Amino acid sequence: MDWGIQNRLSRIIKPDTGRTVMLAVDHGYFLGPTHRLEKVYATVEPLMGYADALMLTRGILRSSIPAKSSVPIVLRVSGGSSIIGEDLSNETIMTSMEDAVRLNVSAVALSIFVGSDYEAQTLENLAILVDMAQEYSIPVLAVTAVGKELEKRDSRFLALSCRIAAEFGASLVKTYYCDEFEKVVESCPVPVVIAGGPKLETELDAFKMAHDAIQMGAVGVDMGRNIWQNDHPVGMIKGVRAVVHENASPEEAYEIFASYKVS
Ligand code: 5RP
Repeated sequence: MDWGIQNRLSRIIKPDTGRTVMLAVDHGYFLGPTHRLEKVYATVEPLMGYADALMLTRGILRSSIPAKSSVPIVLRVSGGSSIIGEDLSNETIMTSMEDAVRLNVSAVALSIFVGSDYEAQTLENLAILVDMAQEYSIPVLAVTAVGKELEKRDSRFLALSCRIAAEFGASLVKTYYCDEFEKVVESCPVPVVIAGGPKLETELDAFKMAHDAIQMGAVGVDMGRNIWQNDHPVGMIKGVRAVVHENASPEEAYEIFASYKVS
């Protein structure tokens, strides 16, 4: 792997633990003003010190994140559909690599929609993005299965999607936790992180999901709503960090969270 790609990846996946806690705040790219992300910086500012990377679009980066901040950026570059449109999978590449370089990003991110009407288009997007990004040694994060695809949250579908993403040259893959998650990780030759998905019923459920994913081989999380839609987001991200970087149990993570709840 090229030195530049390795170096950028090591900003995101921390070399001392080999793991990462990425904070995803890119939801507006198809959901618009998502609950608790209406004013992005108000939500993100208290969490920045605990995030190993921030995943977002260039519009939110330029408008809402201070340029002096040192958190590594994973730039969402795919899009073109919305929650009220016909098909969420009808995405293209929306940001040039030159602009990603100007923004000094550590990686670029794009969704693929395996099994959808736009499967071929989104896989071609990935192939084109990998070619563009290789020119500048920027890693590509492929995001598998979003929106309606979440109905297919099973290991056969997610292993298929993750493996295809790796085959097309993604340096890192983001997917969803599922039963037999180890099968997804084992057959994917590049590191895997999990999204959190919609806010779970309890904090313990979120810590348990992160814990199980890590124990089954994920290198971390790229989590959004289960952190910043919580009334105590700092407690949540600190609990998740303990699970990811210190192998804490879900219960230990909950104790960390609970200490923020009372303060
Ligand atoms: C959507 C994304 C989001 O970043 C992803 O879903 C992570 O956020 P959450 O934990 O809220 O699901 O990539 O395509």
